[in-house]
Amino acid sequence: MTASNAPRKPLVVGNWKMNTDRAGALALANEVAQGTTELREHVVVGVCPPFVYLDAVVRDLRASGYKLHVGAQDVSPEPNGALTGEVSVAMLEDLSVEFSLTGHSERRHVIGESDELVGRKTAAALSAGHGVILCVGETLDQRKAGQTDAVNERQLRTGLAGVAPEHLPILSIAYEPVWAIGTGNTATPQDAQRAHMAVRSVIADLFGADAAGQMRILYGGSVKPDNARELFACPDIDGGLIGGASLKAAPFIEIAVAAAESR
Ligand code: PGA
Repeated sequence: MTASNAPRKPLVVGNWKMNTDRAGALALANEVAQGTTELREHVVVGVCPPFVYLDAVVRDLRASGYKLHVGAQDVSPEPNGALTGEVSVAMLEDLSVEFSLTGHSERRHVIGESDELVGRKTAAALSAGHGVILCVGETLDQRKAGQTDAVNERQLRTGLAGVAPEHLPILSIAYEPVWAIGTGNTATPQDAQRAHMAVRSVIADLFGADAAGQMRILYGGSVKPDNARELFACPDIDGGLIGGASLKAAPFIEIAVAAAESR
């Protein structure tokens, strides 16, 4: 994850959300690591367990010798202090957790995080050398109102406001239309590709065409083994952020295979 993005080797990340228990998390991480070992030349694979299991998952993987990138589902923008319940970048790095999601739609729309807060988290993580997958995406109402590109652009510009060009190699973007997350409704490959192109053009405007060409843009929202292939075949879709289908090893590994075979 901390390696360079170029030349856009696909990335597939499982977001476990508030699921699993300790034993289940260890078993799932091990099965995924084992089942994707042969794919490592063609796809980067990661998982985001709940905070409380991160240490155990990282240690267990280290002991087993299997490689899997491990990330957190969120991170505090502050280095330390009186912030009950928060987890800092340094704490995650202390556990060898390599990256964090920022701006996931459930944190924006269920928990109420603002674009500015997401931007502060993104900047704090990246400036400490901690990888980030910045999530953006429109709600159904915004989509119906024709605001998809405008919402993505606003979330990108604010989310990346504090990001310096030298941090881009450890940044990826995930486009996750809110109406597609956990609903079984996936964006069509055509719609997803169109949105990904628009996201890439915002990155080009912010950081230049070369940076945009190297930026991984993942699709997320009801990705399953049976729709992964056609999504990953799109030229601007560089892998996926997978929720429900990452909670069992077999479908998640199938999705990783689809990503590995997409380039
Ligand atoms: P889903 O979740 O695959 O269950 O739709 C994706 C996500 O929230 O990252």
